Amino acid sequence: MSLIKTNEQISRMRESCTIAAAVLDKLRSLVRPGITTQDLDEAGRDIMADYGARSADYGYQIGSRRYPAHTCISVNEEVVHGVPSLRRILHDGDIVSLDVTVEYNGYIGDNAITIPVGQIDPRLEKLIRVTEESLAAGIKQAVTGNRIGDISHAIQSHVEANGFSVVRDLVGHGVGEQMHEPPEIPNFGRRGTGTKIKPGMTLAIEPMVNIGGFRTKTLSDGWTVVTADNSASAHCEHTVLTTDQGPEILTVTKSAAS
Ligand code: MF3
Ligand code: CO
Ligand code: CO
Repeated sequence: MSLIKTNEQISRMRESCTIAAAVLDKLRSLVRPGITTQDLDEAGRDIMADYGARSADYGYQIGSRRYPAHTCISVNEEVVHGVPSLRRILHDGDIVSLDVTVEYNGYIGDNAITIPVGQIDPRLEKLIRVTEESLAAGIKQAVTGNRIGDISHAIQSHVEANGFSVVRDLVGHGVGEQMHEPPEIPNFGRRGTGTKIKPGMTLAIEPMVNIGGFRTKTLSDGWTVVTADNSASAHCEHTVLTTDQGPEILTVTKSAAS
């Protein structure tokens, strides 16, 4: 699909992204000590169905593997693509990333947050805050005339100025009829490099930030990405539309009235 969306495609993206945000918002309210990540996944599946949407994750193919769940739920040292499981119980003091990607009417909306389970260590609070701030800094650079590297650079500088590191092995991406479209949006890079930003792009910007080193590895389940040094990691994501008036976050909840 083209880098620049038509007005028709943009209005469909608005719908899928609004639903993705609403699903994530409802899912986050269920997080508490004692719940399993599978409980959350099943709730996510049901909430998507209530909106007439479906998970874009379920059955998503990377190489020869198909993703077996409806959401990605990544706890503590898990960076992304945590596979929900009945054996994974959330505990007080954990941090959990919920990544919800829906398909509605042929279009994808992709968003994620990391939130505390009960009371968490101040260091983890800082990790989540810096990750959210870096997303905001990246989004701010998604303006006409800039390049993708300006987004990447803003994220990396904010994270590293705070003593954390950005994951290199996974990147943000364009999104539309497919979950992963060009351009790639790394969370590290140099100003003034990469694809030029023009109005009508829909971009999934998603910093992944580690307390320790930037290296990651994938567990034997073939999906779950964890930090190589087992340090905690946070992740957040929005789908953003570029316009002549600046970036517009599409993955926001709309009130029922609007
Ligand atoms: N939601 C993820 C992203 O932000 C991708 C999900 S991978 C899948 O790009 F395998 F779970 F589908
Ligand atoms: Co996502
Ligand atoms: Co994404």
